[in-house]
Amino acid sequence: MALERTLSILKPDATRRNLTGKINARFEEAGLRIVAQKRAWLSQAQAEKFYEVHKARPFFGELVSFMISGPVVLQVLEGENAVTRNREIMGATDPSKAEPGTIRREFAESIEANSVHGSDSPENAAIEIAYFFAGTEIVG
Ligand code: PPS
Repeated sequence: MALERTLSILKPDATRRNLTGKINARFEEAGLRIVAQKRAWLSQAQAEKFYEVHKARPFFGELVSFMISGPVVLQVLEGENAVTRNREIMGATDPSKAEPGTIRREFAESIEANSVHGSDSPENAAIEIAYFFAGTEIVG
């Protein structure tokens, strides 16, 4: 199985509660390697473009407002089946529906403040990684 990469975001509710180290430990314990990482405060334009695919959904405005309400940590995770593996350890979008032991079940506050984002396919991972990182910033 070839190595795969995925984009991860530690959301503003995670940085606000100083949970970045605890969440990163979950990734590393699951065999994912953090091969790029930077802290950022997204602009409205950056967040709107990133979530463009959800533009027609009723929560779009709230999602964008939340994502620019504080700093985030942008990351590239690398490992076997990284996209699927990361989504498994994140758990379901709604923390009340997430499996015990997943990041969202353990740490998320709500369906909006759900602590982490992870790309949903290898194709989208490539697009999302390129949106935030130059190739030279990723050191595998
Ligand atoms: S997914 O991963 O695309 O299948 O998840 P989905 O349920 O479609 O949600 C897409 C993103 O929107 C966020 N979300 C919400 N934000 C605010 N309010 C409500 N009600 C809500 N429902 C979903 C969800 O956290 C997803 O964000 P990301 O960053 O992609 O995980």
